[in-house]
Amino acid sequence: MIYFDNASTTAVLPEAAQKMYESMLEYTGNPSSLHELGFKSEQALNGAREKVARAMGVNAKNLYFTSGGTEANNTAVIGTALAYKSRGMRVITQTTEHPSVTDSFRHLEELGFDVVYLPVDTFGHISLDELSAAVDEKTTLVSIMYVNNETGAMQDIDGIIKAVKAKNPSCKFHCDCVQAFCKHALPKKADLISVSSHKIGGAKGVGALYIADGTRTENLHFGGSQERGLRPGTENLAGIVGFGLAAELGGRDLEQKAKNVSSVKSELLKLTELLPDVYVNGALDSPYILNLSFLGVRGEVLLHALEADGIYTATSSACSARLKNKLKIVDLLNEGRGESALRLSFNAANTSDEAVCVREALLKHVPVLRKFQPR
Ligand SMILES: Cc1ncc(COP(=O)(O)O)c(C=O)c1O
Repeated sequence: MIYFDNASTTAVLPEAAQKMYESMLEYTGNPSSLHELGFKSEQALNGAREKVARAMGVNAKNLYFTSGGTEANNTAVIGTALAYKSRGMRVITQTTEHPSVTDSFRHLEELGFDVVYLPVDTFGHISLDELSAAVDEKTTLVSIMYVNNETGAMQDIDGIIKAVKAKNPSCKFHCDCVQAFCKHALPKKADLISVSSHKIGGAKGVGALYIADGTRTENLHFGGSQERGLRPGTENLAGIVGFGLAAELGGRDLEQKAKNVSSVKSELLKLTELLPDVYVNGALDSPYILNLSFLGVRGEVLLHALEADGIYTATSSACSARLKNKLKIVDLLNEGRGESALRLSFNAANTSDEAVCVREALLKHVPVLRKFQPR
């Protein structure tokens, strides 16, 4: 089996799985309980908070656990916009965010907010000039992701923060770092950062939101004082402890890992020379994601042909089509390229040998499938 769909989710690290199993048996108390068992669970919770915070490069007291990247993004966007509503109702994002961000902005639109969706160029980057022009004194929030989950295009987050703060120093900046965490050093000056456990070898259904000192965010859930009231409800302790360990292990050797993964990506990039009509979608920024269009073959058909060989990949079309319908934006991928896009996404354990194997499989399948699909 070759798994090149790590941007969708990663396999749980055996160490994290073992830790979660042990945690379920060991930490039986509710972290909110006042007795000894509760205290032990609370300590485990805060130990994990320290680990995730360290890997993110932030202070643990600013970190809140959530049910995943989606909830972290919902809270960051909606909660922050609501908290600063009296200052202004203009908020800014870009067209190629993950739906957990875009749909949050759609919700804000329904609440009467003035939402700006900045376009991206063919590389998937926004223009700093257009961003600068969009920020005014009534703008309270800008949200731009670091690594795009479809293409691996990376935004110049430091430049973006500088441009935003130059126009309006009190405007808050949120960054969805779900695809960047434990792969790239996270931005230092963002006011809010979202991460997710299942993209780094932890369990699904766990995430975290960093909120800088001086940034206010309204809670979207009610009913308890857990996570200082921002995310009430008894914590998924085992999942959080596993997330802590995955972050501790995954936060190491980022440069070495990126180098290894780059060689995996390079092997697959050779397809653009070995086959006609193969195009790279988006910029070749993050080594962890490669999005290729094999013109004349539907991505879904290719995905299933590879699956029959034990190779797991993803298409991009579902997400892009959704965005097109909902926002009426110009898609990053034009018509034919969107239909025939295949996303290959890697983790540090993938090897060049696996990449060569997948390349061979594509060299075998694409010419055959092209014969059966009218252009
Ligand atoms: C960029 C990005 N943001 C947010 C999410 C949502 O994270 P989760 O699956 O933990 O809700 C994903 C998941 O695919 C993602 O890729």
